[in-house]
Amino acid sequence: MLPIALLFVLSLFGLSDTRPLKDRGLIDNAAGQTYDYIVIGCGVSGLVVSSRLSESEDITVLCLEAGALDHYEDEIQIPYYIGLQPDGFYEWGIYTTPQGQLDGVSRHIPMGKGVGGGSLINGMVWNRGNQQSFNAWNDLGNSGWGWESLLPYFEKSETYTPKNYAGREVQPVLENSAVHGTSGPIQVSYPNYYWPQTDNWFSALQEIGIPTSAEPNQGLSAGGYFLPLDIDPNNQTRSDARRAYYDPNIQRNNFNVQPYSQVTRIIFEQGDELTATGVEFAAGPSSPRQTAFASREVVLSAGAIHSPQILELSGIGQSSILEGLGIEVLENLPGVGNNLQDHGMIHLDYSYTNPDIMDVEDFATNSQFNDDSAAEYYSSKTGPWTAKPSCAVAFPSLEQTAADAAGMISAARSAAYNLPDTYANEPTLQRGYEQQLDSVLGELASENIPAFENLNNNAGGLDLALMRPLSRGTAHITSTDPFAPPNVDPRWLVHQFDYDVMILAMQVNQKILDTDAIQALQPSYAQIPRDANTDQLGEILRVGIGTEYHYSSTTAMLPLDMGGVVSDQLRVYGTSNLRVVDTGIYPMVPGAHLQAVAYGVAEKAADMIKADQ
Ligand SMILES: Cc1cc2nc3c(=O)[nH]c(=O)nc-3n(C[C@H](O)[C@H](O)[C@H](O)COP(=O)(O)OP(=O)(O)OC[C@H]3O[C@@H](n4cnc5c(N)ncnc54)[C@H](O)[C@@H]3O)c2cc1C
Ligand SMILES: *[C@@H]1O[C@H](CO)[C@@H](O)[C@H](O)[C@H]1NC(C)=O
Repeated sequence: MLPIALLFVLSLFGLSDTRPLKDRGLIDNAAGQTYDYIVIGCGVSGLVVSSRLSESEDITVLCLEAGALDHYEDEIQIPYYIGLQPDGFYEWGIYTTPQGQLDGVSRHIPMGKGVGGGSLINGMVWNRGNQQSFNAWNDLGNSGWGWESLLPYFEKSETYTPKNYAGREVQPVLENSAVHGTSGPIQVSYPNYYWPQTDNWFSALQEIGIPTSAEPNQGLSAGGYFLPLDIDPNNQTRSDARRAYYDPNIQRNNFNVQPYSQVTRIIFEQGDELTATGVEFAAGPSSPRQTAFASREVVLSAGAIHSPQILELSGIGQSSILEGLGIEVLENLPGVGNNLQDHGMIHLDYSYTNPDIMDVEDFATNSQFNDDSAAEYYSSKTGPWTAKPSCAVAFPSLEQTAADAAGMISAARSAAYNLPDTYANEPTLQRGYEQQLDSVLGELASENIPAFENLNNNAGGLDLALMRPLSRGTAHITSTDPFAPPNVDPRWLVHQFDYDVMILAMQVNQKILDTDAIQALQPSYAQIPRDANTDQLGEILRVGIGTEYHYSSTTAMLPLDMGGVVSDQLRVYGTSNLRVVDTGIYPMVPGAHLQAVAYGVAEKAADMIKADQ
């Protein structure tokens, strides 16, 4: 056995972790065994739930993960590598159906695959969204899911360390310690480096009337923010689900994680309700199917694309879809795989050409700058390599940016819904959608509710994402083969309002770029002409828009007569002991990046499951 210190050094160079399975907390012998709980998918939600349930020594937990356990690769741990991971790096490699409402082209929809799920490869941005968005979950019939109920769980997941960038002209980090956790597993903090041109960003926002002075994570405002990351404040490495919820607990004999185990089906006993008795899994399409048994509950945490797939393969879903594939319908739940929501995102590049400005693009083009930054990172955990993710962003509301916000909202109410074909003859889905539409538009009338996001990267990258979509997509199986990827149709911008909000966002970008503060950085207009009109913007939008990786709402927590799949206890309707815990349960996607919400929701779910023991 190599000493731990040496292993750590090896791991920093990305070499394989050669420790035996058991020393890494893994097992490979779940087949035929019985556990109190089986958790499907060991991503963000699955690791929170399984680590919390295994806090009690006499409770046994099995978490089955389709992907691998990582080897502490630099590409995971060092913020510099965000966006630079090789293709397929802890990632599923799934594409959407062709997006006919845009340009007819299909898009890659990256999803994390491995112990830690999306948190291994995500952009590390940590924000929660607005209080009203969670109160709206509650008001749609989910008692106990408003902001006040969630806040203790948001706090439970994090240890927040503020940082002051002393001497900055614009002081960006605003903190209300009352909304932050002090002892949770995820380290939430800020990079040790501050790009000077961040000041230009905040000045530009102020110049066009977008406020920049609120704590981003108390959920009360729209505007410009300096966001925290899931970054360790001391050594400036990623604090992900694997390192925060798994590593500290690998010594628990009752916490079993088995990688390379893709769940193919949940097994039920039929009675008044369905009782999940176990799960079937396999390492790959040609490997033997094996079974593990659950004596208490099965928790489905495979993410918003794969959880509906597993339900459908197991006989729970929209009966027309199951029957079409010859799958026996155990429970007809039309909501499964419908109501798909995502934040459509477009990358827009106005690369700053001012030669005096160093930025993240110079890592690739200026080897001296990159080498110096790397050396500084490795020697002192400071410098530009710590500051790759977007921190200085904006989440403006319609009121703050549109000439006629009220007019946009009333036009949205009378626009065609353009719902997916699967909504035809499904009154519960239609009713659920109408209530969501009413709720989202009601929120957006407030000046405090973000309608879109501007993701500034301090290099002239001004990406835009739609925060409160009215479009709905689908994620369904088209085959009984569990190794065939589900058919994902996000249908971004199919609702006219979503398109209009994105055009508005592009026009807000134009205003930001026209400010003295940004002109000083000399943006390039090679990709998007400076004076582009709405038709030209629309052309760029239809070709460029894709995912912000925020798939959600495909197993919605809603009343059954509104197309719900799970109750406010997260239990799948018609079952006695199957719950879903992942971003699929959000009835409506909040206007924020999803991981902080996913951790908080999973913390709350773990407490609910414990309370039923
Ligand atoms: C590239 C990228 C960038 C992102 N950037 C940000 C960001 O900056 N900030 C932010 O807040 N959020 C970001 N996100 C989103 C965030 O990471 C996800 O919302 C979050 O991980 C979702 O958590 P989850 O538990 O629902 O699913 P996941 O974390 O995706 O976990 C699901 C797990 O289930 C496993 N699984 C799936 N099917 C099966 C099966 N059949 N059997 C066994 N296991 C299975 C998967 O391999 C995965 O490990 C990003 C995501 C991606 C992909
Ligand atoms: C970073 O620090 C944390 C403790 O705060 C530690 O658990 C982790 O192993 C460190 N990671 C690296 C790569 O130094």
